[in-house]
Amino acid sequence: MSARSVLAAIDKNKYDVTLIGITRAGRWLAGGDPLMALTAPGQEPGSASAALEVHVASSTSVQHLPEELGALDVVFPLLHGPYGEDGTVQGLLELADLPYVGSGVLGSALAMDKDIAKRLLRAEGIPVVDWDLVRRAEIVADLEAVVARVEARFAYPVFTKPANLGSSVGVVKAHDRAELTVALRESAQYDRRVLVEPGVDAREIEVSVLGNDDPVASVPGEIVPSREFYDYAAKYLDDASGLLIPAPIAAETAETARTLAVKAFRALECAGLARVDFLLDRGNGNLFVNEINTIPGFTAISMYPKLWAASGLEYSELIDRLIALALERQAEKNGNAL
Ligand SMILES: Nc1ncnc2c1ncn2[C@@H]1O[C@H](COP(=O)(O)OP(=O)(O)O)[C@@H](O)[C@H]1O
Ligand SMILES: [Mg+2]
Repeated sequence: MSARSVLAAIDKNKYDVTLIGITRAGRWLAGGDPLMALTAPGQEPGSASAALEVHVASSTSVQHLPEELGALDVVFPLLHGPYGEDGTVQGLLELADLPYVGSGVLGSALAMDKDIAKRLLRAEGIPVVDWDLVRRAEIVADLEAVVARVEARFAYPVFTKPANLGSSVGVVKAHDRAELTVALRESAQYDRRVLVEPGVDAREIEVSVLGNDDPVASVPGEIVPSREFYDYAAKYLDDASGLLIPAPIAAETAETARTLAVKAFRALECAGLARVDFLLDRGNGNLFVNEINTIPGFTAISMYPKLWAASGLEYSELIDRLIALALERQAEKNGNAL
């Protein structure tokens, strides 16, 4: 949806767009209509290749790496989550010496890993919710010991989440011991490293950051989840969660969020764009950086672009600016001695 939205809004007088798709099975699609091929019915997890045999138009070739890549001036990765937002695709583009929008290999990987990201943020004095890192092997070997360790440290409710994922997949809120045992197993299905955090009764505030060496922050927005927390259903299924722009918070809190957002962006070596998500404690007003998304939802009605629109930068101008930032980064890299 992000790619479709960018395609609709990008300045066609200025850019000649080549669409390249990657299926869940890791096959690259070029020519024809990769967007159609990717969204064809049957594109559930794991079913990609079967679906493609049926739905790929004859003009769409299926290859491991399309030769179209070699003819591009700049790539705009609109790939959310692992294998798109975590530095892997960025590494491939580095090898191909192709400029691309957004964070590099390091920044992407750091921001994607919730444990490493929090360690770095904490080292910079940026407030984060306390957490414990649990390995899948510990959960398998002695679940009771893990539960005891968590209970000794945090009060319920607690959240369990895979270190590397997104979209709230595998994120579980546990209200008691029984739920915690289920939650740990659930989160561990998605990653071999799982974070456990005390639940904060919080409002969810988000700030868009844009730039390379001199990043700037948008006005903050607020997410009002339709459910107990901002889980997968509240994000994508029930269409009932609200976006408040600007966030109805004190001016002072908004300023703190914007300052922290830029600090976090720098701490994780981000580039181009990132959406910095906060938890604002309803009780004492404390603000925590929850996570940083280096390829945030990017449709015209997603939080990231809407925050810029509210800050005076329209969607198509934002796309233009991001591409300019990608080229700027490449030019800087080309200035390296080696
Ligand atoms: N420590 C926490 N306290 C309260 N709510 C949390 C906490 N951690 C996560 N959540 C809730 O779970 C949602 C998803 O968690 P998050 O860490 O943002 O993972 P994801 O990368 O999947 O979005 C958040 O938007 C929030 O609603
Ligand atoms: Mg999140």
